[in-house]
This record gives sequence, C-alpha cells and structure tokens, in this order.
Amino acid sequence: MCDTSQWLFRRMECPECKSPIDSTALRRNDRQRVEYGLLDCACATYPVVAGVAVLRTDALTQTAAEHVASREFETARSVLLNLPGRVPGRSACGTVLSRLGSAGHPAVRALAAYHRASGRSDEEVGAWRTFEDAATALVGSDDPGFYFDEYLTFRPLEQSFWNLHALLPLFHDAPGPLLDFAGGAGHASDLVARTTGTRTCTVDVNFRTLFLYTRFVNRQQPAVVIGEGADLPFFDDAFGTTLNVDGLHFVPNRFAMSGELERVTAADGLVALLHQHTDDQARISGTALPTAEQTRGFDREAVVVPERDVVEPFVRAVDEGGGSIELHDRRDGADGGDVNVLFGADVDDDTVDIPVERRVHPLLDWAGPVTVNHAYEVTTDGGSLHLERRPLSPVFREEFDRTMAHTDEAYVVSLDDVDARRSLLARGVLTVLPERYVGRPVVGDG
Ligand SMILES: C[S@@+](CC[C@H](N)C(=O)[O-])C[C@H]1O[C@@H](n2cnc3c(N)ncnc32)[C@H](O)[C@@H]1O
Repeated sequence: MCDTSQWLFRRMECPECKSPIDSTALRRNDRQRVEYGLLDCACATYPVVAGVAVLRTDALTQTAAEHVASREFETARSVLLNLPGRVPGRSACGTVLSRLGSAGHPAVRALAAYHRASGRSDEEVGAWRTFEDAATALVGSDDPGFYFDEYLTFRPLEQSFWNLHALLPLFHDAPGPLLDFAGGAGHASDLVARTTGTRTCTVDVNFRTLFLYTRFVNRQQPAVVIGEGADLPFFDDAFGTTLNVDGLHFVPNRFAMSGELERVTAADGLVALLHQHTDDQARISGTALPTAEQTRGFDREAVVVPERDVVEPFVRAVDEGGGSIELHDRRDGADGGDVNVLFGADVDDDTVDIPVERRVHPLLDWAGPVTVNHAYEVTTDGGSLHLERRPLSPVFREEFDRTMAHTDEAYVVSLDDVDARRSLLARGVLTVLPERYVGRPVVGDG
C-alpha cells in the first residue's frame, strides 16, 4: 500500500458494519509505502501486513492485527503466510503490550524485548529472490499435485491470461479505477495499470498470492484480502471497471458475488469476466457454467464471447500490423471452450469492437522495458535472443498445450526488430512485468 492509496481508502467500507474505513493510523506513517499499519471502522480493526490490507474478521487476522499493534511486524507476516516460528503466548504478550502502549516503563521495555527476541527471523523471507522462489515456498508445497506455484509463475504466458492483451483498449477510458476481483498474484491488474495508467486494486481471499503481488509484481497499486463469502469492502460505484480473470467459477457464493460486483461498479462502467470455464475438462477448473448461463446473477446487458474469437484475430491483427476485432455474442451454441463475458460499457447490439492499432492499443505502442516470460529460458548471442520454453510439469504441459497454440517452443529474435518484439509481447512471450519478477535484466527498451 502506498500513501497514494488514499484514493482507495476513500472508497472503502467495512464489509461487516458498512461504516467508512479510517486510515488515520496509516497516515501517521511517513514512509512512502505503508507496509504495516491498522485500519479502523466502527466495529473492528483491520491490519495492513506487508503492504496488503486484510479486511477479514477471522481469528487469524485478529492475531495479525495484534502483532501489528505491538509492532511485531515480521510475526504478523509469518502468521498470515503460515510460516513456522511463532512461540506460544506471543499473541497474549502482544495484546498486553498494545494495551500498555509505548510508554517508557522498564517493564514495558522488557516485555517488548522478550516479545521481539522470541520472533522468527526475517531470513527465510529475505532469501526469496524471485517470484518463482517465493511462489514455490508459499503456495507450492501444501499440495504437491496442484502446482499452483507453477500456474502462478508461468501465468503471463497462458492464453487464459493473454487474451486480456487483446481487450486492453477497453480499460482506458473507464469512469474510475479498476477492481481486479480474485486477482491472485495480480498479473492482470499489473498489466492494466502498467500499460494504460489506470489505477487498480487487486482483491483475493488468499493473502499469500497478494503478498507475492506486492513484493514482486507491483509495489504501487493497492491489494486487499477479503473474507470468503463476505461482501466486498467498497462503496457503491467505487470502480469504473471490475475485472475478473479465471476466478468467478472458484467462488462458492458466485451469484451473490455477482450482485456485489455490479454494486461496486459504476452504472456506466464495465464488468469484464474473462476466461470463465464452461466445461470441466481442466483438472483445476472450479465450478463451470454452460455458456448460455454465464450471465446469470447479473442485471446488465452482456456480450458472451468465446476466448478463441478474441485470441486468434488479435494475433493475426498484430502480425499484420493492425486492424480491429469485432466480437459477437455467442452465448447460444458456442460451448466447449472458455468465454469472456463483458457487461455494460462499450457493449452495443451484442457486439464489441476492439481496435488493434498503434496509438490506440497500449501493447502495440509500448515503449517501456520488457522482460522475457518466465516460461522461457533466455540466452543471448550478439544482438539476438534465443528463447526456449522451459520444461513444465505434466499438468501444466497439458493445460498449456491446449491454450498456447499461438506460441512456439523456441524463438530467435533480434532486439532491434521492433515488429518481432511487438508480436512476442502480444503473445505473452515477452512481458511488461518488472525486472524483479524474474530476477534478471530487462531485455531491451522500445
Ligand atoms: C485461477 S486463480 C486466478 C487468479 C488471477 N485472476 C489470474 O488470472 O491470474 C483463481 C483465484 O480465485 C481466488 N478465489 C477463490 N475463491 C475466492 C473467493 N471466494 N473470493 C475471491 N477470490 C477467490 C483464488 O485465491 C485464486 O487466486
């Protein structure tokens, strides 16, 4: 969370008592980035931990808030990341300290010293140099069959993510900031923020993925943990766009949440649900809905577009140097693949037009640095880059094979070749992710 996140606090309300969120305690922190602090409302105190606001009311979050109150920041983080190292009684000790305040009494100082000495060291977290290290440590080990770490690490390459590339022009002129709901590690909101300049807020039920986001992907845009099944902690009409990529089918209260997504999105705004599963082929698909039923739970006009209707024309338009994609509603009779569902703004007569031209499409006109997608090994040879797809686990090999028809296993590309660079950026082989994500140098400016 940055001090610049004040725009978000002004739009936030408590998910329980609906009173506004008071961020005064955060404002007292004079560092540019607020890593730790407390947010108050009429009924609760919520912690900000490692730059992530945690708007939940469970016991774990309360424990983390107590540690933040007693300035045990690493412990608060360890609690939410489920790292080992807490000692029994720490929470009680923290509570006593926070009640006593920061008075200079020797007993308080002694208690604080004990409290600090019993905390875990920062070593383990400090050793995570790249997104991949941290993802493997944080989300990879719980269930070895699930490979969520690999999914997250290679996320920007997969079609389910990079069909968002085609739709970026939709996010330019929204009447307010963008909410990335079920945003995981925030790859989608980062892409939108970086390329269109739109302010974004990423929310998820998972603290760990948002920790990855604020640490490795984007330090400027805010992230908020919400409670599963809880209301969204935002005022009505707080956002101009609400985006969800590959997420709503994982939400148990999907239909109630649809109402929430509409509530927090301005009436003239856009709700964009991308890569919604319509079949159960994928092993980790959540609860899919048939294409014709994807709009259930929403009141706004919608266009339902198969993902392949977006990706293929986009790739062609980029390779041909420009054009536009006309997307038609195909909710009847287009089963058997994943769909994008667009509600509201720019939806007209069951069609949406997407311009794919320089000066209009932010990726085609991108002049900033790019990095090679994590899924490719990179070697350099004079002025050329050799990119070769890294081995993937069997589960993802299958998933990627189904979705990466428009990418190759290997490329040789000259850094001076602007067209080739643009084409690889559109396909997700190059990305606009920051250098710290992959822990190696950027590979050229436009
Ligand atoms: C397949 S991931 C997609 C993440 C991200 N949108 C992306 O495309 O990379 C699904 C996400 O949904 C989140 N999720 C699951 N249940 C949720 C709920 N009830 N509310 C909000 N997010 C939820 C998960 O934590 C996970 O990050």
